[in-house]
Amino acid sequence: MTPYVADPVYLNGQFLPLAQAGVSPLDRGFLYGDGVYEVIPVYSRRPFRIAEHLARLQATLAGIHLDNPLPLAEWQGIVERLVEHAPWDDQSIYLQVTRGADDKRDHAFPPKSVPATVFAFASPLVTPSAAVRAAGVAAITVADQRWARCDLKVISLLANVLARQQAVEQGCAEALLIRDGYVKEGAASNVFVVKNGLLLAPPKTQLMLPGITYDVILELAEQHLQPLEVREIAEAELRAADEVWMTSSTKEVLAITTLDGEPVGDGRPGPVGERMWQWYQDFKNTIMRKG
Ligand code: PDD
Repeated sequence: MTPYVADPVYLNGQFLPLAQAGVSPLDRGFLYGDGVYEVIPVYSRRPFRIAEHLARLQATLAGIHLDNPLPLAEWQGIVERLVEHAPWDDQSIYLQVTRGADDKRDHAFPPKSVPATVFAFASPLVTPSAAVRAAGVAAITVADQRWARCDLKVISLLANVLARQQAVEQGCAEALLIRDGYVKEGAASNVFVVKNGLLLAPPKTQLMLPGITYDVILELAEQHLQPLEVREIAEAELRAADEVWMTSSTKEVLAITTLDGEPVGDGRPGPVGERMWQWYQDFKNTIMRKG
C-alpha cells in the first residue's frame, strides 16, 4: 500500500524515517495547540506559490509572537529535499512549527532558550477527480465557533475539526461557516459565490484565512475580466446563489452543488466555476513550464 507520508520526514534539523521521528509529550503543540502550519501544493515536483506560503507562515508566526526558527532559504531547502525524495510527482508539503517543549507546563511562553519544534513531511496531492468535479459536492452550513484570529494558520483547529466532522456525518464534503449572518469560509477552504454572472468573494479580514488559492482566483478573475466584487456575503445570498465554490491548495476550485440538502442553482456545477477551474489549470501549467 502506498504510504500517506513519505520517508524521510524533517524534524528539528534532521531528515529521518517517520517511524523514528518523535517529539516530547510536553511539546506545546501537543499540550496547547500552540503552533502554526502550512500546506504547500507541489505539481510535477514544483512547489506552487512557495514564496506566498512561506510569507503566510511568517505572518502567522508573527501573529502568535513566535520567532521564525529558520531563514527563508532553509525552508526552501527543506521543501526541495522532501519533494525530491517523495515517490509522487504531485505532492502536498506540510510544515509545522510549535513553541517547543518546556519542562514545566505553564500557559505563558517558555524561556527563549526553549527551541521551537519544526516538523515537515510530504504526502501525495490528491485533487478532486473528474467525476467529483462533474457532480460537485454537498456542503452544510454551521455557526462559526472559531476564535477571532482566523487569519492565522494555527494548528489549534478544534472548531474547524468539529465543523468538518459534522459535514462528514451528514455525508457532506465541507461545512461553510456563518458568523453574524455572513459566510466567511469553509472548515478548510475559502468560499466563492456567483450570482447573475457576478463573482463574489468575502474580503480578507481577521475572520477568514487569506487563502493562497483565493489570491490566485482573484488574480485570474481580473486577468480574464470576470466581473468580481470583494465584499461580505450574506447567508441569504449564499442560499440564493447560482454557484458556490470551495477553494484550497488541495481542492483547487470545486463546485458545491448541494447546500443543507437544497440544490445550489440548478444543482450542477456552473459555467463560471468551470471556466475558473480551467483558468486555474492553465495558470498552473504555464507556471510549471517556466519553472
Ligand atoms: N486548508 N480556509 C481555511 C480555514 C483553510 O484551512 C484553508 C486551507 C483555506 C484555503 O487556503 P489555501 O488556498 O492557502 O490552501 C481557507 C489547508 C489545505 C489544510 O488545512 O489542510
